[in-house]
Amino acid sequence: MPVLSNLAVRDIETLVHPYSNLAAFRDTGPMIIDRAEGVFVYDTEGKGYIDGMAGLWCTALGYGNEELVQAAAAQMRKLSFAHLFNGKSHDPAIELAERLKDIAPIPVSKIFFCNSGSEANDTQIKLVWYLNNALGRPKKKKIISRIKGYHGVTIAAASLTGLPNNQIDFDLPIANIVHTSCPHHYRFGKEGESEEDFATRLAVEFDELIVREDPGTVAAFIAEPVMGAGGVIVPPKTYFEKIAAVCQKYDLYVISDEVICGFGRLGTMFGCQSFGFKPHGLSIAKALSSAYLPIAAVTVPDIMYEAMLTESRKIGTFGHGFTYSGHPVSAAVAVKTLEIYARDRIVEKVAAKVPLFQARLRALDQHPLVGEARGMGLIAGVELVADKDTKRSFEPSKGVAAQCVRFAEAEGLIVRSVIGDTLTICPPLVITSAEIDALFDRLTRALDRTLDWTKRL
Ligand SMILES: Cc1ncc(COP(=O)(O)O)c(C=O)c1O
Repeated sequence: MPVLSNLAVRDIETLVHPYSNLAAFRDTGPMIIDRAEGVFVYDTEGKGYIDGMAGLWCTALGYGNEELVQAAAAQMRKLSFAHLFNGKSHDPAIELAERLKDIAPIPVSKIFFCNSGSEANDTQIKLVWYLNNALGRPKKKKIISRIKGYHGVTIAAASLTGLPNNQIDFDLPIANIVHTSCPHHYRFGKEGESEEDFATRLAVEFDELIVREDPGTVAAFIAEPVMGAGGVIVPPKTYFEKIAAVCQKYDLYVISDEVICGFGRLGTMFGCQSFGFKPHGLSIAKALSSAYLPIAAVTVPDIMYEAMLTESRKIGTFGHGFTYSGHPVSAAVAVKTLEIYARDRIVEKVAAKVPLFQARLRALDQHPLVGEARGMGLIAGVELVADKDTKRSFEPSKGVAAQCVRFAEAEGLIVRSVIGDTLTICPPLVITSAEIDALFDRLTRALDRTLDWTKRL
């Protein structure tokens, strides 16, 4: 057992850690991060790590960006808080909404602000229900998401999420949430089935699911362009066009959860643009402020806004909103973040770095432990298997990917492991080519150490 520092002991006695094995954690204690600069974070011992996960898929511009610090400080001095309730407003929220409308890849009437991806997706569900009540379709309420999709942890968002740990013993999912198949060709494609044929089969299954549920009760479909926390799953070729056709057939409201893929992650400003996928609404968060402060948003198209007006004429107040919806300091930081993305041509620069990132990633396919090295843009998943030929996974209780994460940390790299022994990689967008090389060099050494370790199991 490691010797725990005083700070670590205080942590164990005071904090409930999100997304941690609470029982195991009592022995291992925390990794306490003290400071960060660029793409590097440093622990309390002074050891530096490449942050291969951009925090939690969010610190797009890296750490210590003085312009963002200044934007926050200046706004705090000028107007530290103001809200948007009861018709009140402020300049940073207005400016941010205008900028988002300008860069959105779909027609947007209005922007609704929240503080997290979960709140954004909860808001989407409530707005879809509102829409269908306004349109006189009170039975059309079910939302379809996908197995292994990740949409957050609040009660409704966790219900959309298609991962077991978010639901078991939380008494979830709630009613009116339905899950369709996961578009992961490596795991769920049949022997000899092409990506296109797999996509066709998924669209047929989706159609059949809607028919089984009764199309008159199905209201919406939500998807991440590339699934993140489910293991970085890139959909098979032609997937979104085939799924979109089914959505259109049954008049579903389509939501792209851009919480990870938004703002350049895939080499396009929004993830849906990488697939020619045209949703009605977007959920955005994380890189919106490069994670300097919490802020998220939902884009509202005309049809939705008209429905909200109809409801308001009937009910009066639109009874939804958070104290910190459009918080002026978060909004000012987000405005500055968008300014930097445009001025520094961050998305074009990401696109230029993708070939190196993806080449280094694909080379991992040769490693004896790697079943599939997959990804797109600057996001990747590396699935570890016990047998490459049969794709047999390790016993989950062995914690092979979790062990690889620890070896990576010893090598000075932070990555994450998710269900299915998959390592996830999602560095800050500002990572340099030399840092990409260093990231994969460190990861390769961690995989080699993990391979030795599995031989001793
Ligand atoms: C695609 C996606 N949607 C929603 C969320 C939930 O966001 P939050 O943790 O800010 O509630 C996440 C978080 O990782 C996410 O990856």
